[in-house]
Amino acid sequence: MSITNSEVSQKLYIETYGCQMNVSDSEVVASVLKDKGYIITEDINEADVILVNTCSIRENAEQRIWGRLDVFKQIKKKKPELTIGVIGCMAERLKEKLLEEEKTVDIVVGPDAYRDLPHLLETAETGQRGVNVILSKEETYGDISPVRLDKNRISAFVSIMRGCNNMCSYCIVPYVRGAERSRNPESILKEIEDLFNTGYKEVTLIGQNVDSYIWESEKENLPAGKQGETMKFAQLLEKTAKINPQLRIRFSTSHPKDMSDDVLYTMAMYSNICNYIHLPAQSGSTKVLTEMKRGYTREYYIDRINAIKRILPDSAISSDIMTGFPGETEEDHQETLSLMEFVNYDFSYMFKYSERPKTYAARHLKDDISEGTKSRRLTEIINLQTKLSEKSKKADLGRVFEVLVEGISKKSSEHFFGRNSQNKVVVFPKNNYNIGDYVFVEITECTSATLIGVLVK
Ligand code: 5AD
Ligand code: SF4
Repeated sequence: MSITNSEVSQKLYIETYGCQMNVSDSEVVASVLKDKGYIITEDINEADVILVNTCSIRENAEQRIWGRLDVFKQIKKKKPELTIGVIGCMAERLKEKLLEEEKTVDIVVGPDAYRDLPHLLETAETGQRGVNVILSKEETYGDISPVRLDKNRISAFVSIMRGCNNMCSYCIVPYVRGAERSRNPESILKEIEDLFNTGYKEVTLIGQNVDSYIWESEKENLPAGKQGETMKFAQLLEKTAKINPQLRIRFSTSHPKDMSDDVLYTMAMYSNICNYIHLPAQSGSTKVLTEMKRGYTREYYIDRINAIKRILPDSAISSDIMTGFPGETEEDHQETLSLMEFVNYDFSYMFKYSERPKTYAARHLKDDISEGTKSRRLTEIINLQTKLSEKSKKADLGRVFEVLVEGISKKSSEHFFGRNSQNKVVVFPKNNYNIGDYVFVEITECTSATLIGVLVK
């Protein structure tokens, strides 16, 4: 007798790599499979199905996952009935290659094919291997209520769009996640309301480029005589903020070429929209930015930073910085360092350029910066950011911040940690407060990564 999916009660273990989008996708995957009877487990050793949600952004991200597949292979040796699935960006990029080279992998599923997972797992049970890496122009999983896999039940990611149309010359994302599409605002707002009603205090609206969020109601069937409306990111943000003043709103990622003043004014209007913007610069050199096809110059980026500083003077700003892009000279590198100094970033994610097959840069530009030079430039960038992060924390000494309590401090069970509006981690004594409370903390000490303080009324 064959087992149909409605009868399964198998244990599912999901391991997630990569960005916030992948974290959010794993919650969609958990929802799709829970509906079919799968039970989510955090213990890999009791799993009947292991799914690894993968990232392709840099070569070292993929290397890590090949390493994990070796570990899963060992587990499967002892438990041959175990099903192993590779899902997400690397599944999309490597498709059949994964099935050919990894005999232990049973299914390969791309980011737009998660609704097909129950069927593919059923196929795998019959001993066949399954693959679905079809990308979609419409899929947003808008109607699926994600199963929250986070531990604290205070803060959640909400996907507002999928895919990317930017085609930055170095980037694999458009190839593995397909074209950009926005999610219906009604389903977004409903998901957020439900989160708030179940005790969540913070949501982060996520998408590869949130500033290009757009929803045209003309797409739907409107009653005769009713005008269609267009909703852009600033309006969506406002509607989200209005759900409840006790709900904090964050968003990521903004794109310098698309970030409008409207968004900044909306942030200024609502105190529950956090004072924090992640605005990846990538490079400080207009020449490199042009080669990267980023769609802005150094001057335009600086104009956007000045707009943030003018409209939201208390906002923290962070960046992604990439070093060693093809043709990057010592002068270009110095321009990146000087841009970082100018902005005074509170925080940055910093990377060495990694050539990705298929991209414009891989096809047209030689990866000509030596590993040694990339490493040296990255060290200079990291050292500068450490200095800027310290400066940013020191400027907070003596200030009082509202902090959302998120959990117990790793270093002391007598202390909580949380974040302020600017996304900086704050550690403080527990007193009688609970996780999920808002507290006021006066900052008395700091390290380069953390603010430390005392509770004030
Ligand atoms: N090499 C190195 N870093 C990359 N990123 C994207 N593609 C690459 C690549 N090929 C970085 C960018 C992006 C962040 C998510 O990852 O800085 O903003
Ligand atoms: Fe996220 Fe990009 Fe990695 Fe995919 S490749 S998981 S979109 S960072």
